[in-house]
Amino acid sequence: SPTQIRKLVAHSHSLKRTSLPWLQPALSPKPKSSKELVKPQKSLNNKTVALLFSKRSTRTRVAAETATSILGGRALFLGKDDIQLGVNETPRDTARVLGGMCQGIFARVGKHEEVEELARWAGVPVVNALSEYWHPTQVLADLLTLQENAHLFDSSIPAPKSDDAFPKLPELPKLTIAYVGDPANVLNDMLVTYPRLGCRMQVASPNGYKPIPEVWNRVKELGCDEGISWSDDPREAVKGADVVITDTWISMGQENEKAQRLQDFEGYQVTEKLCAEGGANPNWKFMHCLPRKQNEVDDEVFYGDRSLVFPEADNRKWTIMGVFDSFIGRWSDGGKDKDI
Ligand code: CP
Ligand code: NVA
Repeated sequence: SPTQIRKLVAHSHSLKRTSLPWLQPALSPKPKSSKELVKPQKSLNNKTVALLFSKRSTRTRVAAETATSILGGRALFLGKDDIQLGVNETPRDTARVLGGMCQGIFARVGKHEEVEELARWAGVPVVNALSEYWHPTQVLADLLTLQENAHLFDSSIPAPKSDDAFPKLPELPKLTIAYVGDPANVLNDMLVTYPRLGCRMQVASPNGYKPIPEVWNRVKELGCDEGISWSDDPREAVKGADVVITDTWISMGQENEKAQRLQDFEGYQVTEKLCAEGGANPNWKFMHCLPRKQNEVDDEVFYGDRSLVFPEADNRKWTIMGVFDSFIGRWSDGGKDKDI
C-alpha cells in the first residue's frame, strides 16, 4: 500500500543516516551527538540470505551483499552455473532446500513465474531481485533519491546544509514523471507506484511496445491507470516533466532482438534537445536504473548536472537494506514487521 511504501523508504533513509557516519566517516558530515552514531540493529545476525541470480548484476548484487553484512548476516551468492537449479533440479525442490538452510531468498530470474514458484515452496521470505516483468527494489531506490532531492523540485523545501548530517527526509513532491523508452520491468513498477503516491506518469514508447496484459491488469486493479498517459511521441511524454527516466532498449535476454529494437526505438534517445522541444520543466532531472547504453540517453544528459543516476545507484544499497531488515531480519525474529 502507499503507506507501506512510504514507511519502507523512510526506514531505508534512517538505516542510511545511521550507517554512513561510521562506514564512511571521511565522506560523511560529522554527527551532532553520539546519539546519532547508533549502528543499525543486526537483524540478520547469524542468518543467511541466498542470492539466487540467474542473470548478471552489479548494483543489486553488491547492494544485497553489503547491506546484509551491515545487518550482521551472510549473503550467499548462487549464480546460475553454481547450483543444480535448471539443470538437475526443479525450482520447487531448490526452493525447499534453500528455505531449510537460509532465512530469506533474493532471486533474479527470467520468467516471473520462477520467482512465484520459489515463493510458493521456500517457506521463507522471497524477494524479487528482477524478473522479466517487475523490478520492485529499483523503484524504492528511485523514491528515496527523489525524496532526498525534493528541494530541487519544490522551492519551499530547504536544501540540506552541508553540515546537516541527518536531514529529515522530505515527502515526495507531486511530480510529473516522464518515461521515454522500452515499457519493461523497470517501468512496470513505476506504473503501479507513482500514481498511488500522487505523481503523474507520462510514457512514450514505439507502436507495438506496450505493457503485457498481466501488468496492465495490475495497473488498473490498483487504480493507477488514471494517473498515466501514453503516447508514441517522446516530445509529448516530456511535456511539463519534472523528471525524465529511461532504461536500456535491450533488456537481459533480448540480445537477439538488438537490431530490430535499435531500429524501432530510433528517436527515443533522451537529450537536451528532445526535452527542450517537448517543453519539459526547464529544471528537469534525469534518472536511469543502470546499466546504461548511449542509445537511450546521450552523455550530455547522463553525466550532466541534471543527472541523479549515481545517487540513485547508491540508494539501491539502503533500500535493499530496508527490505532485508523489514522482511527477512525481522520476519525470522518471529513475524513480519507490524509497521511495514
Ligand atoms: N539497476 C540494476 O538492477 O542494476 P544491476 O543489473 O547491475 O543489478
Ligand atoms: N530492463 C533491464 C533492467 C536492468 C536493471 C533488464 O531487465 O535487463
